[in-house]
Parts: sequence; C-alpha cells; structure tokens
Amino acid sequence: MRIGHQSAKGVEYIHEIPSFGLGVFLMSEEGECKSACLSALEAGYTHIDTARAYSNEHEVGEALKESGVDREEVFITTKLRRMHAIGFDEVIEHCQKSLELLDTEYIDLYLVHAPPEEIEHRAPVWKGMEHCLEQGWVKAIGVSNYGAHHLDAMQEYATYLPSVNQIEINPWLQRPELRAATEAIGAKVMAYSPLARGHKLKEPELIDVASRLGCTPAQVAIKFCHDIGCITIPKSSRSDRITENLASLEIDISSEMAAIMGMECGYISGWDPTSEP
Ligand SMILES: NC(=O)c1ccc[n+]([C@@H]2O[C@H](COP(=O)([O-])OP(=O)(O)OC[C@H]3O[C@@H](n4cnc5c(N)ncnc54)[C@H](OP(=O)(O)O)[C@@H]3O)[C@@H](O)[C@H]2O)c1
Repeated sequence: MRIGHQSAKGVEYIHEIPSFGLGVFLMSEEGECKSACLSALEAGYTHIDTARAYSNEHEVGEALKESGVDREEVFITTKLRRMHAIGFDEVIEHCQKSLELLDTEYIDLYLVHAPPEEIEHRAPVWKGMEHCLEQGWVKAIGVSNYGAHHLDAMQEYATYLPSVNQIEINPWLQRPELRAATEAIGAKVMAYSPLARGHKLKEPELIDVASRLGCTPAQVAIKFCHDIGCITIPKSSRSDRITENLASLEIDISSEMAAIMGMECGYISGWDPTSEP
C-alpha cells in the first residue's frame, strides 16, 4: 500500500507501507519483544509497530540486526510519547532518541501517539514532525487516536497532512465515520487492537463465523480489518500465533462479511483519546 502527505503542492513524500505488521505493545518482559520480532521476521512479517511508550524500541532494533534482514526490507513504525508531545524542540529530541534506540538511520513512519493534551501544543508538535520528515530522519509522519475534529483542526496548521491515522478498529468497533474522515484528508487508517486485545475472541457469534470459514476467531477479526482497507497490526508474543495471524491474509471471509459487520457494539478495549476535545 502507498502512503503520502497531502500538501499545497499535491501529494508529497510517498512511501510504500506493508498493510500488515506485528504490534509490540505490552511486551514488558526482557527479551519478549526481541523474540517476537525475530519470530515475525522469520515468518515473513515486514512491518513492526512499536512506540517510545512501550519501552522496547531497542529490542526491535536488536531483532532487526540479529535477523540479518536488510533494513530496507522492514518497515518500522514508532510513536512520539504523549508526555513528550509538548513542543517543536521536544519532538526533535525524542525523534533522535528513537533513532538511537532503534539503532537505525531512519524511521519509516513516525506517529504522534495521541492528540497532545494541551490544544496549543498541537500545532508546534506537528511542525516538529514535519521537520523530522523534511530532514529525512523519518520517511512518513502521521497521527494516532485523532478524532475527525482533531484532523479537521490540522488543516489550519499543517503543511503536510498526516499519511496515517492509527486508531482502534475491529469487528466490535468499526468506526465508519472516522475512517472516512481519515481517508478524506488523504491518510490511511491503521487498525490497532484488531483483536480487541483478545477480549472478544470467545464471543459465540465470532466462533460460529470462524467455524463456518474453517479458520480461527482471531483470523476472522484480523482479516476483517484488512478487508475494510486498514493497515492491520495484531500483537502476539507467541510464535504459533504470529504465524496464525499472518496466515489470516489468505482467508476469504467475503461470505461472512454481513455477519461480522453485525458485531459492531462500540466496544473500546483500551483508551479512546479520539473523543477528547
Ligand atoms: N496507538 C495506540 O494508542 C495503540 C493502542 C493499542 C495498541 N496499539 C498497537 O496495536 C497493536 C495491537 O493491539 P493490542 O496489542 O492492543 O491488541 P490485539 O492485537 O488486539 O490483541 C493482542 C492480544 O490478543 C492475543 N492474541 C494474539 N493473537 C492471538 C491469536 N491468534 N489467538 C488468540 N489470542 C491471540 C495476544 O496474546 P499473546 O501475546 O499471548 O498471543 C494479546 O493478549 C499493539 O501491539 C500496538 O502496536 C496502538
């Protein structure tokens, strides 16, 4: 999939993004993230989604080096921590720190993890993100947990609109309006928590769909996010599930799409800054 940034000159800084990746949130034991990344790279994953807040960027970098896979073959997404999203200089400082922790020359996609809490910090933070893009430290910039009104406000201060909005999406939280608002500014939707953090995998409706399709419940949820056009980044620390999750891309769920769409219930599995002012 292609991402780019809408600007007064058209679409700029176009970059290719794999539409599927490994999320590495809540891998807190030492070595857990590195080992999951190594399993994923071995299984054929080409995209890893980390964040400063996850305290494991260094393990992503170590796995990349140890795997022997070329840097250009892997897409690394990381995020500016919310507590660091307070001004232009802080963005520069923390982007440099992430580059150091990841031990890489560039980050493929750098996201503002959530709308900065102070509204007046949002413009200078985005200017800092744009500076990182112009300097080539990052190949693409985007946001995460931005609601339609946050995206709208960016039109006032952004030279380059975000290439991605990473938000929670899964069969139980489908967000058609927010997906449309994201696409309207030329950004792609990245679906986080596609399994609703595992909270809903035992729901009878999902189990029925999975058994009719001959796959696992997790595979149904992942493929749903993928098929509605989202870049999808399920997390697992287990190598068997890492392989299972990737294999979901091969499953045809079209016959069950209506049943999956019917699972919508507005369920938020973690946090929801999209509804903040
Ligand atoms: N931008 C944000 O604010 C934000 C917020 C949340 C997440 N994210 C990103 O999105 C990624 C994914 O979201 P998430 O980690 O919240 O949750 P998720 O991917 O929806 O679910 C992960 C949970 O599901 C389990 N699981 C994974 N594969 C499974 C399978 N095949 N069968 C059964 N259970 C399975 C995992 O356990 P095991 O590990 O034991 O397999 C884990 O408990 C994160 O890792 C992070 O990169 C971003």
